[in-house]
Amino acid sequence: MKIDLLLGLQWGDEGKGKIVDVLTPNYDIVARFQGGPNAGHTIVFDNKKFVLHTIPSGIFNPTCINIIGNGVIIDPLTLLREIDELAQKDVDATKNLFVSRKAHLILPTHRLLDAANEKSKGSQKIGTTLKGIGPTYTDKTARNGIRVGDITMDDFNEKYQRSKQRHLIQLQSTNFDVENFTLDGMSLVEYEQKWFEAIEKMKRLKCIESEYFINENLQKGKKILAEGAQGSLLDVDFGSYPFVTSSSTIASGACSGLGVAPGAIGRVFGVFKAYCTRVGSGPFPTELFDADGNLMRERGHEFGSTTGRPRRCGWIDLPALKYAVMLNGVTDLIMMKADVLNVFETLKIAVAYNFRGSKTEQLPYEAVTEKLEPIYTEIKGWDQEITDSIADELENYIRFIENYVGVPITFVSTGPDRSQGIKRIKN
Ligand code: GDP
Ligand code: IMO
Ligand code: MG
Repeated sequence: MKIDLLLGLQWGDEGKGKIVDVLTPNYDIVARFQGGPNAGHTIVFDNKKFVLHTIPSGIFNPTCINIIGNGVIIDPLTLLREIDELAQKDVDATKNLFVSRKAHLILPTHRLLDAANEKSKGSQKIGTTLKGIGPTYTDKTARNGIRVGDITMDDFNEKYQRSKQRHLIQLQSTNFDVENFTLDGMSLVEYEQKWFEAIEKMKRLKCIESEYFINENLQKGKKILAEGAQGSLLDVDFGSYPFVTSSSTIASGACSGLGVAPGAIGRVFGVFKAYCTRVGSGPFPTELFDADGNLMRERGHEFGSTTGRPRRCGWIDLPALKYAVMLNGVTDLIMMKADVLNVFETLKIAVAYNFRGSKTEQLPYEAVTEKLEPIYTEIKGWDQEITDSIADELENYIRFIENYVGVPITFVSTGPDRSQGIKRIKN
């Protein structure tokens, strides 16, 4: 059996959580493979709304096993809070949750370093989620990280103290005010105490060698879905560097983040919004600063699931979408939030860029430092509520995208609830 992937094709927040939840009944296992609590994946059903940061979005199906893979970085406090919040809503997340022993831990001082790095960049700041993502992945690749498997080792405390001291020295060199900085409203000392309590509770979770577990289950014929976080345009290699996250958000990240071979990958579901959003700094060629952008933000409730920040909004960008489809080998496209565009009489679609006076359909290296002028095609909006039958104008919009990127759109999402959407092509 092959492992299927589900990935975001834009700058994150495409609606991955909803689609993983919708697809979960078809799978035995759902596994997160990268990112950490910078993610905020929203799932809505029975008038209840859940936002998951670390736990995979298959958790609401009681028969589905959920794995936090080795490529994920874990803040124990966030993970335990998430488990507690789910328990309060009668969801026992611990029953079917497995955690890779090779996943790295986010230390409290990683979060301070994240804040210090951002401060030192001034106007060039990335606008990170301040969850400690960059510094934790830095420690991982610099071979200084602490992993889940270390928490039961005799020298765990020693390792922790060594890392903490190293971080404090780094913080001193940036003149960062550690004493007066608060983490979730707590001083470093208070936060650290809660962090260690969470580490103790983590010892009760099922911590495993997840690469063996996943491959053995594939061999047994079990169906597995890998859940991506962030989006392809935030990928550390192919995103708008340096305005990216610190992990491989594309399909290849699932291989290293779960321990599966490239040949084991089956379908690749690429999730994108019918328009574009971005939160944080960095280039966004089709960004709107006018009433249309405000209307998208208002109708789409475009405020960050993790940080609450308003998301930047703009028209759909097909050269960027096609780039993401190429990087990931997408087999099925899933278009989200089509309902947000219900009130637009005319829609714009970016089909190329004007860069240094020439037309291009590729994202140039200089896209981060130089302005790209999008070249738009206008298309008539459907300008009505979406019902079970797809209006001609919506069908035209869908076909235009399919023709441009060369992959079919198999599902159109029309609202946040698990039940809202139209399957286009029967599989
Ligand atoms: P993720 O990070 O990719 O899982 O996406 P987020 O959860 O951060 O953001 C997607 C937001 O859009 C959430 O608030 C969802 O509840 C909401 N959402 C998902 N699909 C739809 C849809 O088709 N229409 C509308 N209006 N909202 C949606
Ligand atoms: P999900 O999984 C949207 C953005 C941040 C910032 C940049 C780097 O919910 O789609 P980081 O904290 O990772 O160092 O921040 O990446 N970012 C996201 N934007 N959705 C996300 O996750 C994001 N995770 C990180 O806003 O611009
Ligand atoms: Mg999100």
